[in-house]
Amino acid sequence: MKGIILAGGTATRLFPLTTTTSKQLLPVYDRQMIFYPLNVLIKAGVKDILIIVAPEHSGQFLNLLGSIFENYGIRIEFKVQKVPRGLADAFIVGENFIDDDNVTMTLGDNIFEDDFSEQIKNFKSGGLIFAKKVPDPERSGVVKFDDNMKAIEIQEKPKKWLSDYAIPGLYVYDNRVVAAAKEVRPSERGEIEITSLHNWYLKKQELEVAMVNGVWLDAGTFDSLLEASNIVKEKKIYKNFDSIIDKAIKEFSAEFKELAKKRLV
Ligand code: TTP
Repeated sequence: MKGIILAGGTATRLFPLTTTTSKQLLPVYDRQMIFYPLNVLIKAGVKDILIIVAPEHSGQFLNLLGSIFENYGIRIEFKVQKVPRGLADAFIVGENFIDDDNVTMTLGDNIFEDDFSEQIKNFKSGGLIFAKKVPDPERSGVVKFDDNMKAIEIQEKPKKWLSDYAIPGLYVYDNRVVAAAKEVRPSERGEIEITSLHNWYLKKQELEVAMVNGVWLDAGTFDSLLEASNIVKEKKIYKNFDSIIDKAIKEFSAEFKELAKKRLV
């Protein structure tokens, strides 16, 4: 299993904060946002991780994550997405990295309370996506279930109510996703939508939709960014981190403290 974090985009809803740095490098409580999706992958034992970034922020990502996990057997690669063409582009930008493997892709601004490691580890083939009942599903992809909770329809940001179940930014696909992504034509808003990939697997009856039970946040607006920090603190989500991440962050901070001391003398 390979892992991809899609951490590019323009983050216009967070201007002016994101005119000087990337959304995914903004703080959520005591660490940068990117550590949350990293935790989903590292907890599941994923050792090869590609982080897709926007060109203007690539240096900052490299400074933070370029060597932070090198003593822990986790390889981080970076790729620049020149234009934010849509979520399905992750599998095209990531084609060589994915190679012949399956892939878990997660969005760089999504924060989860649940632990998905068993589901990711046990994944065999097809597609596995998630659903969460929310008051404002039209902000994301939306999935409709039949009476037996079998997924029957998926739409991207539906204008007319379809269901209360939004699709969070965590997707597990087998290797066919690369070829499927290349077939996706841009939508009305000009993006190659990940919803098209869900539908590709749904049509073949090879899509599993599992529930998210705990908190799910997309920290893309001022309110949700603030809420993310508050919820992480209140629910002690910072305690859910894989020990590798905590140790790596401690070492990284200690190194910077030493460097800061040197600058003072
Ligand atoms: P969005 O929140 O939909 O887009 P954005 O981050 O550019 O923000 P805004 O709408 O405020 O302008 O993106 C969801 C996540 O996916 C986020 O982590 C950015 C990432 N992304 C990419 O890396 N490349 C893309 O082509 C797109 C569409 C999103």
